[in-house]
Amino acid sequence: MSRFVHKPAVPLAIFLLAAVGVCSGGSDAPRGVAVGFVFDLQAKCDPPCKHGGVCIRNNTCHCSKGYEGETCQYANCFPKCKNGGACLRPGKCRCQPGYGGRYCHTVSCAGGCWNGGECNAVNGEAKCICPSSWSGSKCQNAICPQGCRNGGICVAPGICSCPEGWLGGACHNAVCSQPCLNGGKCISPNKCRCRPPFSGPRCEERKKSH
Ligand SMILES: *[C@@H]1O[C@H](CO)[C@@H](O)[C@H](O)[C@H]1NC(C)=O
Repeated sequence: MSRFVHKPAVPLAIFLLAAVGVCSGGSDAPRGVAVGFVFDLQAKCDPPCKHGGVCIRNNTCHCSKGYEGETCQYANCFPKCKNGGACLRPGKCRCQPGYGGRYCHTVSCAGGCWNGGECNAVNGEAKCICPSSWSGSKCQNAICPQGCRNGGICVAPGICSCPEGWLGGACHNAVCSQPCLNGGKCISPNKCRCRPPFSGPRCEERKKSH
C-alpha cells in the first residue's frame, strides 16, 4: 500500500531537480547537477542537507538556489556582501559596523548625521562630516563662536540660551530687575556695583563722610 503512495512522488522530484539544473546551468553550482543525473532514492546524507537541499546520492546534496557547501550550509549572496559583510541568507547580508545597504556597499553612520552632516568613510570608519557650525559624532552640537558664559547653553549656531538673570549673545549681561542708580553697574543678577560715594542694593544711598 505504501508503495502506491510513494511512487507518484518520484517523477515529480526528478522534474523539479531537472528544472533547477536547467535554471542554474553553467553557474558555479557546487554539485554540477544537470538534467538526467542519477537520483538515488535510497541515498543517505549524513549530516543531512540543509536549507531545502535534496540528497541525490550518498552524502551528496543538491542545494536549492542561493545555498552552497557540502550540506548546503552556506548562503550565497549575489552580488557578494561588500566590506566584510556576511551572507545570512540568499540576498541578505549582515554588514560590518559602519556599512549599510543591501550589499553593505554604502557607508552608514549609526544614528545618522544631523544638521546637514554627511556620512563618509574616514580610514575605513564611518564618520559624520559636519558643517562648520556643528560638531559632535552626529553633528548634534551647535557651535557658538562667541561662547556662552554664566551657564548659558549653545542651542543653535551662534545662539546661546541664557539662564535667568543673564542676557546677551554670550549671556554676558547681568539683569538687575531694579536698575542700578547713580552710575552703578549691574554686575550679576540683581547685584549692583556702585560708584563711590554711593552704596546700597541699588546704589541709592550716599555714604556719609565722617
Ligand atoms: C548508500 O549507503 C547505504 C548505507 O548507508 C548503502 O547501503 C548503499 O549501498 C549506498 N548506496 C550507494 C549507491 O553507494
